[in-house]
Amino acid sequence: MPGLVIVGAQWGDEGKGKVVDLLAERADAVIRFQGGNNAGHTIVLGEEIYKFHLIPSGILYPGKLCVIGNGVVVDLRVLSEEIEGLRRRHIDASGLRISANAHLIMPYHLLLDEAGEAKLGSREIGTTKRGIGPCYADKAARLGIRVQDVLDEKILKEKITAAIEPKRQTLRAYAKDPRLDLHQMTEDFTSFGHRLEPYIADTPPIAWKALDDGRLVVFEGAQGTLLDIDHGTYPFVTSSNPIAGAACVGAGVGPKSIDHVWGVTKAYSTRVGAGPFPTELRDGVGDRLREAGAEFGTTTGRARRCGWLDIVALRYSVRVNGLTALVITKLDVLTGIDPLQVAVGYVGPEGARFEDFPYHQSVLHSARGETVDLPGWHEDISGAREIADLPPAARSYLDFIEERLGIPVAMVGVGPGRDEIIWTDVAGELAR
Ligand code: GDP
Ligand code: IMO
Ligand code: MG
Repeated sequence: MPGLVIVGAQWGDEGKGKVVDLLAERADAVIRFQGGNNAGHTIVLGEEIYKFHLIPSGILYPGKLCVIGNGVVVDLRVLSEEIEGLRRRHIDASGLRISANAHLIMPYHLLLDEAGEAKLGSREIGTTKRGIGPCYADKAARLGIRVQDVLDEKILKEKITAAIEPKRQTLRAYAKDPRLDLHQMTEDFTSFGHRLEPYIADTPPIAWKALDDGRLVVFEGAQGTLLDIDHGTYPFVTSSNPIAGAACVGAGVGPKSIDHVWGVTKAYSTRVGAGPFPTELRDGVGDRLREAGAEFGTTTGRARRCGWLDIVALRYSVRVNGLTALVITKLDVLTGIDPLQVAVGYVGPEGARFEDFPYHQSVLHSARGETVDLPGWHEDISGAREIADLPPAARSYLDFIEERLGIPVAMVGVGPGRDEIIWTDVAGELAR
Protein backbone atom coordinates (compact mmCIF):
# COMPACT_ATOMS: atom_id res chain seq x y z
CA MET A 1 0.00 0.00 0.00
CA PRO A 2 1.07 3.52 -0.71
CA GLY A 3 2.39 6.77 0.62
CA LEU A 4 -0.54 9.17 0.59
CA VAL A 5 -0.13 12.91 1.11
CA ILE A 6 -3.08 14.97 2.35
CA VAL A 7 -2.75 18.71 1.71
CA GLY A 8 -4.98 21.75 1.99
CA ALA A 9 -5.87 22.91 -1.54
CA GLN A 10 -6.97 26.40 -0.44
CA TRP A 11 -6.03 28.73 2.46
CA GLY A 12 -6.22 26.15 5.26
CA ASP A 13 -9.03 24.80 7.45
CA GLU A 14 -10.38 22.66 4.63
CA GLY A 15 -11.07 19.74 6.98
CA LYS A 16 -7.71 17.96 6.72
CA GLY A 17 -7.96 16.71 10.31
CA LYS A 18 -11.21 14.87 9.66
CA VAL A 19 -9.89 13.34 6.43
CA VAL A 20 -6.63 12.20 8.04
CA ASP A 21 -8.55 10.72 10.98
CA LEU A 22 -10.66 8.67 8.56
CA LEU A 23 -7.67 7.44 6.56
CA ALA A 24 -5.58 6.75 9.66
CA GLU A 25 -7.64 3.72 10.53
CA ARG A 26 -6.01 1.91 7.59
CA ALA A 27 -2.54 3.41 8.01
CA ASP A 28 0.52 2.12 9.84
CA ALA A 29 1.72 5.66 10.48
CA VAL A 30 0.52 9.25 10.21
CA ILE A 31 3.23 11.89 9.81
CA ARG A 32 2.86 15.68 10.16
CA PHE A 33 5.51 17.21 7.94
CA GLN A 34 5.42 21.02 8.32
CA GLY A 35 3.89 23.95 10.19
CA GLY A 36 3.38 24.08 13.92
CA ASN A 37 0.63 24.98 16.31
CA ASN A 38 -0.63 27.61 13.90
CA ALA A 39 -2.61 24.59 12.68
CA GLY A 40 -5.90 23.58 14.26
CA HIS A 41 -7.28 20.25 13.07
CA THR A 42 -10.73 19.27 14.31
CA ILE A 43 -12.17 15.79 14.64
CA VAL A 44 -15.76 15.24 15.74
CA LEU A 45 -16.52 11.85 17.24
CA GLY A 46 -20.12 11.73 18.37
CA GLU A 47 -20.44 14.26 21.19
CA GLU A 48 -16.67 14.53 21.57
CA ILE A 49 -14.70 17.26 19.77
CA TYR A 50 -10.91 17.02 19.49
CA LYS A 51 -8.72 19.89 18.33
CA PHE A 52 -5.13 19.07 17.49
CA HIS A 53 -2.47 21.68 16.88
CA LEU A 54 0.65 19.54 16.80
CA ILE A 55 -0.33 15.94 17.39
CA PRO A 56 -1.15 14.14 14.12
CA SER A 57 -4.83 13.44 13.50
CA GLY A 58 -4.38 9.66 13.71
CA ILE A 59 -3.93 9.65 17.47
CA LEU A 60 -7.52 8.63 18.26
CA TYR A 61 -6.72 5.04 17.21
CA PRO A 62 -5.02 3.50 20.26
CA GLY A 63 -1.28 3.02 19.81
CA LYS A 64 -1.28 4.33 16.20
CA LEU A 65 2.18 5.55 15.20
CA CYS A 66 1.80 9.32 14.94
CA VAL A 67 4.93 11.19 14.01
CA ILE A 68 5.74 14.87 14.39
CA GLY A 69 8.25 15.09 11.55
CA ASN A 70 11.49 17.04 11.30
CA GLY A 71 9.79 19.72 9.18
CA VAL A 72 7.43 20.72 11.98
CA VAL A 73 8.19 23.55 14.43
CA VAL A 74 7.26 22.48 17.93
CA ASP A 75 6.13 24.52 20.93
CA LEU A 76 6.86 22.10 23.77
CA ARG A 77 4.46 23.84 26.12
CA VAL A 78 1.58 23.38 23.67
CA LEU A 79 2.63 19.81 22.90
CA SER A 80 2.79 18.93 26.61
CA GLU A 81 -0.68 20.38 27.12
CA GLU A 82 -2.00 18.42 24.17
CA ILE A 83 -0.53 15.16 25.50
CA GLU A 84 -1.94 15.93 28.94
CA GLY A 85 -5.37 16.70 27.39
CA LEU A 86 -5.37 13.28 25.74
CA ARG A 87 -4.38 11.59 28.99
CA ARG A 88 -7.28 13.29 30.77
CA ARG A 89 -9.62 11.93 28.11
CA HIS A 90 -8.11 8.44 28.46
CA ILE A 91 -6.70 8.42 24.93
CA ASP A 92 -3.70 6.15 24.49
CA ALA A 93 -0.97 8.36 22.98
CA SER A 94 1.78 5.75 23.26
CA GLY A 95 2.26 5.80 19.46
CA LEU A 96 3.37 9.44 19.45
CA ARG A 97 6.91 10.09 18.18
CA ILE A 98 8.65 13.46 17.94
CA SER A 99 11.50 13.93 15.51
CA ALA A 100 14.73 14.74 17.34
CA ASN A 101 15.51 17.07 14.43
CA ALA A 102 12.35 19.17 14.61
CA HIS A 103 12.93 22.78 15.59
CA LEU A 104 11.59 24.32 18.77
CA ILE A 105 9.48 27.43 19.10
CA MET A 106 11.15 29.38 21.91
CA PRO A 107 9.62 32.11 24.10
CA TYR A 108 11.51 34.77 22.10
CA HIS A 109 9.88 33.54 18.87
CA LEU A 110 6.46 34.32 20.31
CA LEU A 111 7.59 37.80 21.30
CA LEU A 112 9.21 38.40 17.90
CA ASP A 113 6.02 37.32 16.08
CA GLU A 114 4.01 39.74 18.20
CA ALA A 115 6.53 42.57 17.73
CA GLY A 116 6.75 41.95 13.97
CA GLU A 117 3.00 42.22 13.51
CA ALA A 118 2.80 45.33 15.70
CA LYS A 119 5.50 46.96 13.60
CA LEU A 120 3.62 46.25 10.37
CA GLY A 121 0.53 47.97 11.78
CA SER A 122 -2.22 48.13 9.17
CA ARG A 123 -0.05 46.06 6.79
CA GLU A 124 0.02 43.15 9.24
CA ILE A 125 -0.16 39.58 7.91
CA GLY A 126 -2.60 38.47 10.58
CA THR A 127 -0.38 35.63 11.80
CA THR A 128 -1.55 33.30 14.53
CA LYS A 129 1.17 34.85 16.75
CA ARG A 130 2.43 31.38 17.63
CA GLY A 131 6.06 32.22 16.76
CA ILE A 132 6.02 30.18 13.55
CA GLY A 133 7.79 32.69 11.25
CA PRO A 134 10.59 33.61 13.69
CA CYS A 135 11.21 29.92 14.42
CA TYR A 136 11.60 29.00 10.74
CA ALA A 137 13.77 32.12 10.31
CA ASP A 138 16.13 30.84 13.03
CA LYS A 139 16.15 27.40 11.42
CA ALA A 140 17.32 28.97 8.12
CA ALA A 141 19.82 31.17 9.99
CA ARG A 142 21.19 28.04 11.71
CA LEU A 143 20.36 29.50 15.09
CA GLY A 144 17.56 27.04 15.80
CA ILE A 145 17.15 24.95 18.92
CA ARG A 146 16.12 21.41 18.07
CA VAL A 147 14.18 18.78 19.99
CA GLN A 148 17.37 16.77 20.64
CA ASP A 149 18.97 19.78 22.32
CA VAL A 150 16.62 19.58 25.30
CA LEU A 151 18.22 16.27 26.24
CA ASP A 152 21.55 17.95 27.05
CA GLU A 153 21.41 20.94 29.39
CA LYS A 154 24.90 22.20 28.54
CA ILE A 155 24.37 22.21 24.78
CA LEU A 156 20.92 23.71 25.28
CA LYS A 157 22.23 26.64 27.29
CA GLU A 158 24.99 27.35 24.76
CA LYS A 159 22.55 27.30 21.87
CA ILE A 160 20.00 29.52 23.58
CA THR A 161 22.75 32.01 24.45
CA ALA A 162 23.83 32.19 20.80
CA ALA A 163 20.28 32.39 19.50
CA ILE A 164 19.07 35.09 21.84
CA GLU A 165 21.96 37.47 21.24
CA PRO A 166 20.87 38.83 17.82
CA LYS A 167 17.33 39.36 19.10
CA ARG A 168 18.23 41.70 21.92
CA GLN A 169 17.84 44.79 19.77
CA THR A 170 14.33 43.93 18.54
CA LEU A 171 13.21 42.69 21.91
CA ARG A 172 14.58 45.63 23.90
CA ALA A 173 11.09 46.44 25.04
CA TYR A 174 10.89 42.97 26.61
CA ALA A 175 14.34 43.10 28.25
CA LYS A 176 13.00 42.49 31.74
CA ASP A 177 10.41 39.93 30.68
CA PRO A 178 10.84 36.81 32.87
CA ARG A 179 10.17 34.70 29.79
CA LEU A 180 13.54 35.82 28.42
CA ASP A 181 15.57 34.76 31.43
CA LEU A 182 18.30 32.43 30.11
CA HIS A 183 18.51 30.27 33.24
CA GLN A 184 14.76 29.92 33.58
CA MET A 185 14.43 29.04 29.89
CA THR A 186 17.16 26.41 30.12
CA GLU A 187 15.55 24.95 33.21
CA ASP A 188 12.07 24.88 31.67
CA PHE A 189 13.23 23.24 28.46
CA THR A 190 15.40 20.70 30.27
CA SER A 191 12.38 19.74 32.27
CA PHE A 192 10.32 19.36 29.06
CA GLY A 193 13.15 17.14 27.83
CA HIS A 194 12.86 14.84 30.85
CA ARG A 195 9.12 14.52 30.43
CA LEU A 196 9.05 14.08 26.66
CA GLU A 197 12.13 11.88 26.26
CA PRO A 198 10.11 8.66 25.73
CA TYR A 199 8.51 10.20 22.65
CA ILE A 200 11.69 11.63 21.06
CA ALA A 201 12.95 9.50 18.19
CA ASP A 202 14.82 9.23 14.91
CA THR A 203 11.62 9.34 12.88
CA PRO A 204 12.37 8.81 9.14
CA PRO A 205 13.06 5.06 9.69
CA ILE A 206 9.47 4.71 10.96
CA ALA A 207 8.23 5.82 7.53
CA TRP A 208 10.83 3.76 5.66
CA LYS A 209 9.89 0.55 7.46
CA ALA A 210 6.14 0.98 6.95
CA LEU A 211 6.66 1.80 3.26
CA ASP A 212 9.08 -1.14 2.79
CA ASP A 213 6.45 -3.41 4.32
CA GLY A 214 3.94 -2.14 1.76
CA ARG A 215 1.82 -0.46 4.44
CA LEU A 216 -0.13 2.78 4.13
CA VAL A 217 1.61 5.92 5.41
CA VAL A 218 -0.44 9.12 5.56
CA PHE A 219 1.51 12.39 5.39
CA GLU A 220 -0.62 15.05 7.07
CA GLY A 221 -0.25 18.60 5.77
CA ALA A 222 -1.15 21.72 7.70
CA GLN A 223 -2.25 25.15 6.36
CA GLY A 224 -2.95 25.17 2.63
CA THR A 225 -1.41 25.61 -0.83
CA LEU A 226 -2.14 29.34 -1.09
CA LEU A 227 -0.38 29.92 2.24
CA ASP A 228 2.79 28.29 0.89
CA ILE A 229 5.83 30.54 1.35
CA ASP A 230 7.01 29.89 -2.23
CA HIS A 231 3.79 29.29 -4.13
CA GLY A 232 1.16 31.12 -2.09
CA THR A 233 0.03 34.73 -1.92
CA TYR A 234 3.35 36.05 -0.55
CA PRO A 235 3.86 37.87 1.81
CA PHE A 236 0.42 36.89 3.14
CA VAL A 237 1.51 33.32 3.72
CA THR A 238 2.87 31.10 6.44
CA SER A 239 6.59 30.41 6.80
CA SER A 240 6.69 26.81 5.63
CA ASN A 241 5.75 24.84 2.51
CA PRO A 242 2.30 23.28 2.97
CA ILE A 243 2.40 21.78 -0.54
CA ALA A 244 2.86 18.07 -1.22
CA GLY A 245 6.54 18.32 -2.19
CA ALA A 246 7.33 19.30 1.39
CA ALA A 247 6.16 15.90 2.66
CA CYS A 248 9.42 14.38 1.46
CA VAL A 249 11.58 17.04 3.12
CA GLY A 250 9.56 17.25 6.32
CA ALA A 251 9.32 13.50 6.89
CA GLY A 252 12.59 12.27 5.39
CA VAL A 253 11.36 10.14 2.47
CA GLY A 254 12.10 10.31 -1.26
CA PRO A 255 9.61 11.45 -3.91
CA LYS A 256 9.16 7.86 -5.11
CA SER A 257 7.56 7.04 -1.76
CA ILE A 258 4.58 9.24 -2.61
CA ASP A 259 1.97 7.38 -4.62
CA HIS A 260 -1.09 9.56 -4.12
CA VAL A 261 -1.67 13.23 -3.34
CA TRP A 262 -5.14 14.22 -2.24
CA GLY A 263 -6.07 17.87 -1.96
CA VAL A 264 -8.76 18.82 0.51
CA THR A 265 -11.06 21.68 -0.46
CA LYS A 266 -14.25 23.04 0.99
CA ALA A 267 -17.22 23.27 -1.37
CA TYR A 268 -16.68 27.05 -1.04
CA SER A 269 -13.65 29.13 0.07
CA THR A 270 -12.41 30.62 3.35
CA ARG A 271 -9.33 32.48 4.51
CA VAL A 272 -8.16 33.64 7.96
CA GLY A 273 -5.87 36.64 8.25
CA ALA A 274 -5.00 39.27 5.65
CA GLY A 275 -4.18 38.91 1.95
CA PRO A 276 -5.80 38.51 -1.47
CA PHE A 277 -9.02 36.51 -1.72
CA PRO A 278 -10.60 37.01 -5.17
CA THR A 279 -13.94 35.29 -4.44
CA GLU A 280 -14.51 36.86 -1.01
CA LEU A 281 -18.14 37.73 -0.20
CA ARG A 282 -18.50 40.75 2.05
CA ASP A 283 -22.29 40.46 2.08
CA GLY A 284 -25.12 38.44 3.56
CA VAL A 285 -24.13 35.32 1.61
CA GLY A 286 -20.66 35.47 3.18
CA ASP A 287 -22.27 35.81 6.61
CA ARG A 288 -24.53 32.89 5.86
CA LEU A 289 -21.59 30.65 4.89
CA ARG A 290 -19.75 31.69 8.06
CA GLU A 291 -22.71 30.84 10.22
CA ALA A 292 -23.75 27.60 8.49
CA GLY A 293 -20.12 26.42 8.27
CA ALA A 294 -19.19 27.59 11.81
CA GLU A 295 -16.28 29.42 10.18
CA PHE A 296 -14.37 30.56 13.23
CA GLY A 297 -10.69 29.63 13.59
CA THR A 298 -9.79 26.47 15.54
CA THR A 299 -6.57 28.06 16.78
CA THR A 300 -7.34 31.76 17.27
CA GLY A 301 -11.16 31.86 17.22
CA ARG A 302 -11.05 34.59 14.53
CA ALA A 303 -13.98 34.82 12.10
CA ARG A 304 -12.92 33.31 8.77
CA ARG A 305 -13.47 35.32 5.60
CA CYS A 306 -15.86 33.41 3.31
CA GLY A 307 -16.41 33.30 -0.46
CA TRP A 308 -17.44 31.23 -3.47
CA LEU A 309 -15.48 28.22 -4.66
CA ASP A 310 -12.49 29.35 -6.73
CA ILE A 311 -11.69 27.04 -9.67
CA VAL A 312 -8.74 29.22 -10.78
CA ALA A 313 -7.00 28.79 -7.42
CA LEU A 314 -7.88 25.10 -7.28
CA ARG A 315 -6.48 24.42 -10.76
CA TYR A 316 -3.26 26.05 -9.60
CA SER A 317 -3.35 23.83 -6.53
CA VAL A 318 -3.78 20.73 -8.70
CA ARG A 319 -0.60 21.69 -10.56
CA VAL A 320 1.72 22.72 -7.71
CA ASN A 321 0.80 19.70 -5.60
CA GLY A 322 0.38 17.17 -8.40
CA LEU A 323 -3.00 16.29 -6.95
CA THR A 324 -4.25 12.84 -7.93
CA ALA A 325 -7.68 13.25 -6.30
CA LEU A 326 -9.80 15.74 -4.47
CA VAL A 327 -11.66 15.58 -1.17
CA ILE A 328 -14.56 18.04 -1.07
CA THR A 329 -15.75 18.90 2.44
CA LYS A 330 -18.68 20.89 3.80
CA LEU A 331 -20.99 20.31 0.84
CA ASP A 332 -23.82 20.37 3.40
CA VAL A 333 -23.05 24.03 4.17
CA LEU A 334 -24.23 25.03 0.67
CA THR A 335 -27.70 23.54 1.18
CA GLY A 336 -30.38 26.17 0.60
CA ILE A 337 -28.22 28.63 -1.35
CA ASP A 338 -29.71 28.79 -4.84
CA PRO A 339 -28.23 29.59 -7.26
CA LEU A 340 -24.64 28.87 -6.28
CA GLN A 341 -21.74 30.68 -7.87
CA VAL A 342 -18.31 29.35 -8.77
CA ALA A 343 -15.40 31.45 -10.02
CA VAL A 344 -14.00 30.14 -13.31
CA GLY A 345 -11.78 33.14 -14.10
CA TYR A 346 -10.54 36.41 -12.59
CA VAL A 347 -11.07 39.96 -13.75
CA GLY A 348 -8.04 42.09 -12.99
CA PRO A 349 -7.43 45.82 -13.00
CA GLU A 350 -8.67 47.56 -16.13
CA GLY A 351 -10.81 44.59 -17.05
CA ALA A 352 -8.01 42.13 -17.93
CA ARG A 353 -9.20 38.50 -17.76
CA PHE A 354 -7.22 35.68 -16.21
CA GLU A 355 -7.90 31.97 -16.54
CA ASP A 356 -4.74 31.00 -14.70
CA PHE A 357 -3.66 32.03 -11.22
CA PRO A 358 -1.71 35.31 -11.65
CA TYR A 359 1.80 35.33 -10.26
CA HIS A 360 1.96 39.10 -9.78
CA GLN A 361 0.95 40.39 -6.36
CA SER A 362 -0.59 43.64 -7.67
CA VAL A 363 -2.81 41.72 -10.09
CA LEU A 364 -3.81 39.23 -7.42
CA HIS A 365 -4.69 41.95 -4.92
CA SER A 366 -7.24 43.54 -7.20
CA ALA A 367 -8.45 40.38 -9.00
CA ARG A 368 -12.11 39.52 -8.54
CA GLY A 369 -13.68 36.17 -9.34
CA GLU A 370 -15.65 35.90 -12.58
CA THR A 371 -18.43 33.52 -11.66
CA VAL A 372 -20.95 31.24 -13.32
CA ASP A 373 -24.27 30.26 -11.71
CA LEU A 374 -24.98 26.66 -10.84
CA PRO A 375 -28.27 25.32 -9.49
CA GLY A 376 -28.48 24.84 -5.72
CA TRP A 377 -30.46 22.27 -3.72
CA HIS A 378 -32.66 22.47 -0.65
CA GLU A 379 -32.69 18.92 0.71
CA ASP A 380 -30.79 18.00 3.89
CA ILE A 381 -27.82 15.97 2.58
CA SER A 382 -26.17 15.09 5.90
CA GLY A 383 -27.51 11.53 5.72
CA ALA A 384 -26.02 10.84 2.26
CA ARG A 385 -23.42 8.04 2.27
CA GLU A 386 -23.19 7.47 -1.46
CA ILE A 387 -23.06 9.88 -4.38
CA ALA A 388 -26.40 8.45 -5.54
CA ASP A 389 -28.01 9.66 -2.27
CA LEU A 390 -27.32 13.30 -3.22
CA PRO A 391 -29.87 15.49 -5.01
CA PRO A 392 -29.17 15.98 -8.76
CA ALA A 393 -28.00 19.60 -8.27
CA ALA A 394 -25.42 18.53 -5.65
CA ARG A 395 -24.18 15.78 -7.97
CA SER A 396 -23.84 18.19 -10.86
CA TYR A 397 -21.94 20.63 -8.58
CA LEU A 398 -19.40 17.85 -7.91
CA ASP A 399 -19.31 16.87 -11.61
CA PHE A 400 -18.62 20.49 -12.53
CA ILE A 401 -15.61 20.63 -10.16
CA GLU A 402 -14.24 17.28 -11.37
CA GLU A 403 -14.55 18.32 -14.97
CA ARG A 404 -12.94 21.74 -14.50
CA LEU A 405 -10.05 20.38 -12.43
CA GLY A 406 -9.49 17.20 -14.39
CA ILE A 407 -9.12 15.01 -11.30
CA PRO A 408 -11.63 12.73 -9.58
CA VAL A 409 -13.32 13.22 -6.23
CA ALA A 410 -12.38 10.57 -3.65
CA MET A 411 -14.45 11.69 -0.66
CA VAL A 412 -17.25 14.18 0.01
CA GLY A 413 -18.00 15.65 3.45
CA VAL A 414 -21.66 16.14 4.33
CA GLY A 415 -21.26 17.07 8.01
CA PRO A 416 -18.56 17.40 10.68
CA GLY A 417 -19.03 13.92 12.19
CA ARG A 418 -16.70 11.03 11.39
CA ASP A 419 -19.52 9.12 9.70
CA GLU A 420 -20.79 12.11 7.70
CA ILE A 421 -18.75 11.23 4.65
CA ILE A 422 -19.18 9.74 1.19
CA TRP A 423 -16.40 7.55 -0.15
CA THR A 424 -16.39 7.30 -3.94
CA ASP A 425 -15.00 4.45 -6.03
CA VAL A 426 -11.82 6.47 -6.47
CA ALA A 427 -10.93 5.91 -2.82
CA GLY A 428 -10.71 2.23 -3.80
CA GLU A 429 -8.97 0.07 -1.24
CA LEU A 430 -8.66 3.06 1.13
CA ALA A 431 -12.42 3.16 1.62
CA ARG A 432 -13.85 0.98 4.31
P1 GDP B 1 -8.26 21.63 9.10
O1 GDP B 1 -7.40 22.68 9.71
O2 GDP B 1 -8.08 21.53 7.62
O3 GDP B 1 -8.14 20.29 9.78
O4 GDP B 1 -9.77 22.12 9.31
P2 GDP B 1 -10.39 22.73 10.68
O5 GDP B 1 -10.59 21.64 11.64
O6 GDP B 1 -9.63 23.93 11.11
O7 GDP B 1 -11.76 23.30 10.12
C1 GDP B 1 -12.70 22.48 9.48
C2 GDP B 1 -14.01 22.54 10.27
O8 GDP B 1 -15.05 21.99 9.49
C3 GDP B 1 -13.99 21.71 11.55
O9 GDP B 1 -14.75 22.33 12.52
C4 GDP B 1 -14.62 20.38 11.12
O10 GDP B 1 -15.26 19.71 12.20
C5 GDP B 1 -15.63 20.86 10.13
N1 GDP B 1 -15.93 19.91 9.03
C6 GDP B 1 -15.09 19.06 8.39
N2 GDP B 1 -15.74 18.45 7.38
C7 GDP B 1 -17.01 18.92 7.38
C8 GDP B 1 -18.16 18.70 6.55
O11 GDP B 1 -18.14 17.94 5.59
N3 GDP B 1 -19.29 19.41 6.88
C9 GDP B 1 -19.34 20.28 7.92
N4 GDP B 1 -20.48 20.93 8.15
N5 GDP B 1 -18.28 20.52 8.72
C10 GDP B 1 -17.12 19.86 8.44
P1 IMO C 1 -4.69 24.64 9.42
O1 IMO C 1 -3.64 23.55 9.45
C1 IMO C 1 -5.77 28.69 8.25
C2 IMO C 1 -2.59 31.72 8.37
C3 IMO C 1 -2.72 32.82 9.40
C4 IMO C 1 -2.04 33.96 8.65
C5 IMO C 1 -0.91 33.25 7.91
C6 IMO C 1 0.45 33.34 8.61
O2 IMO C 1 -5.60 24.61 10.57
O3 IMO C 1 -5.37 24.66 8.09
P2 IMO C 1 1.43 32.10 10.75
O4 IMO C 1 0.98 32.09 12.17
O5 IMO C 1 1.46 30.76 10.09
O6 IMO C 1 2.72 32.85 10.55
O7 IMO C 1 0.31 32.97 9.98
O8 IMO C 1 -1.31 31.90 7.80
N1 IMO C 1 -2.65 30.34 8.91
C7 IMO C 1 -3.71 29.52 8.78
N2 IMO C 1 -4.93 29.75 8.25
N3 IMO C 1 -5.45 27.47 8.72
C8 IMO C 1 -4.23 27.23 9.25
O9 IMO C 1 -3.82 26.00 9.61
C9 IMO C 1 -3.31 28.29 9.33
N4 IMO C 1 -2.04 28.41 9.79
C10 IMO C 1 -1.66 29.67 9.52
O10 IMO C 1 -4.07 33.10 9.69
O11 IMO C 1 -2.91 34.48 7.69
MG1 MG D 1 -7.60 24.40 10.89
